[in-house]
Amino acid sequence: MTDLDSFIAGLPKAELHLHIEGSLEPEQMFAFAQRNGVAIPYASVDEVRAAYAFGNLQDFLDIYYAGADVLRTQADFHDLATAYFDRAAADGVVHAEIMFDPQTHTDRGVPFGVVIEGLLSAMAAAEERHGLTSALILSFLRHLSEDAAFETLAAAEPWLDRIAAVGLDSSELGHPPEKFARVFAAAAAKGLKLVAHAGEEGPPDYVWQALDTLKVDRIDHGNRALEDETLVARLARDAMTLTVCPLSNLKLCVVGDLAEHPLDRMLALGLRATINSDDPAYFGGYIGDNYRAVTAGRGLDRAALVTLARNSFTGSFLPDTAVAANLDRLDRYVAAHA
Ligand code: HPA
Ligand code: ZN
Repeated sequence: MTDLDSFIAGLPKAELHLHIEGSLEPEQMFAFAQRNGVAIPYASVDEVRAAYAFGNLQDFLDIYYAGADVLRTQADFHDLATAYFDRAAADGVVHAEIMFDPQTHTDRGVPFGVVIEGLLSAMAAAEERHGLTSALILSFLRHLSEDAAFETLAAAEPWLDRIAAVGLDSSELGHPPEKFARVFAAAAAKGLKLVAHAGEEGPPDYVWQALDTLKVDRIDHGNRALEDETLVARLARDAMTLTVCPLSNLKLCVVGDLAEHPLDRMLALGLRATINSDDPAYFGGYIGDNYRAVTAGRGLDRAALVTLARNSFTGSFLPDTAVAANLDRLDRYVAAHA
């Protein structure tokens, strides 16, 4: 382990872009399949990992939705999230804002309450065990209709005080943010924060739509914003947080090599970029792995790493007092490791 690697391991950080369904490790997929009596199209863990070679986002999504079929009970969602929180805590994560895709489950007959109660109990346990705070982001599947998103928002009604934000994920191309303008406005009217995947595969125009039509508080990914100078200036002026996911970008061929990853270019342009893991079980690593991989690929220094960790707190949906407390903790860590 290099000096920078151990610095990264202890660096207090927040994770802002994590799909809990994407933390389903192959071993856990087999365990859940067995306890629920669900057949899966793989004979071994090695066979599952061998299937994780993706040419683009859709290749991944097909396998990710199939994998989620083993999740059936409240205990499954609790155990899934607990395994994620344990790994995140070991990586120095002190706060996590995790996305879940209710439609992936309700469309298979798993009730909304089963999903969210399993996640909420794991969140409470993680705070007790690790002091790790967390928040939920209900993500709509953009390949489905806006009416379906409205039905999901209605199903969430009894738990709205436990949900921080709504998001937008799944197949980006052909499903622009404006398709969800009304449901995002409805979510905002209920007091929810707003995030959307934009500019992962989609053009800069999708990032403009996320800003101006959806009025999002954060952009998930945002890589392709760099193609539009005016857009970059707008994102910088608004101090808009970008939740960047280096290993995801590599695995989904958004970048050819981490040596070409634009993370430090984003920082140099004044963008509030953060490092996140997206779907760690599928993309080869958790948040610490993402920090280490992009640090090696781009030669990031300590100052850049501290900026990235700082951005993860200022870009979070924590109340100002909790942001300030986490920034203090970060400053104390940096001072102690000068
Ligand atoms: N992009 C879009 N949808 C997703 C992703 C992603 O990286 N991960 C899970 N759903
Ligand atoms: Zn994502």
